[in-house]
Amino acid sequence: MELRRFKARDGREVILRTPRWSDLDDMLDFINSLVEEGADINICQPYTREEEAEWLANLLASMEKGERISVVAEVEGHVIGHVEIRIGRCYESHTGVLGIAVKRGYRDRGIGTELMRMAEELARERGLGIITLAVFSTNSRAIHVYEKLGYRVVGRVERGIYKDGRYIDKLLMAKEVEETS
Ligand SMILES: CC(C)(COP(=O)(O)OP(=O)(O)OC[C@H]1O[C@@H](n2cnc3c(N)ncnc32)[C@H](O)[C@@H]1OP(=O)(O)O)[C@@H](O)C(=O)NCCC(=O)NCCS
Repeated sequence: MELRRFKARDGREVILRTPRWSDLDDMLDFINSLVEEGADINICQPYTREEEAEWLANLLASMEKGERISVVAEVEGHVIGHVEIRIGRCYESHTGVLGIAVKRGYRDRGIGTELMRMAEELARERGLGIITLAVFSTNSRAIHVYEKLGYRVVGRVERGIYKDGRYIDKLLMAKEVEETS
């Protein structure tokens, strides 16, 4: 389902929409490109097509069940970005945990910011009050985007990440998207 269209800073048209099964090969290429560049996300092994198919099947099923919000960004017919919010269960059902990535070559064009805004809008529609996320403390671009959108650092796990032979702090950030009091 198409959600929104806009022009990226480089003039290219971006479509924000929900993911579908036919995105499998794009999603596989996308995740493995992030692994290959060593992006600051907590995935360190390339996915096989079977593993990615299982991941996508789970994603689509959990969206159906209302457990996840997921939006992809499409440029020139290919998925180049993804944001998801995993909705909490039980006493955390007013909260969600966000994850986002935009493919190398498409960054710094405003796409990540628009994906975040879209996810937040859908979260609000679903009645979520709080969105949290975790980020490597060295990921200054991601932190810039999150702070710009009103997320604040609410916690720090010192040396919570071990990557390429060194420890990095993991930051927990949160934003109240709807009055919770
Ligand atoms: C983080 C990420 C999702 C942001 O998406 P994006 O499409 O690049 O984001 P945008 O283009 O909307 O915004 C990027 C902003 O960061 C700024 N920026 C770029 N490099 C920066 C840096 N090293 N330090 C601080 N800010 C930086 C840009 O100037 C821009 O700011 P502006 O909107 O105020 O002008 C994307 O870069 C990405 O996928 N990175 C790799 C995976 C990742 O880190 N995911 C997040 C894990 S928590």
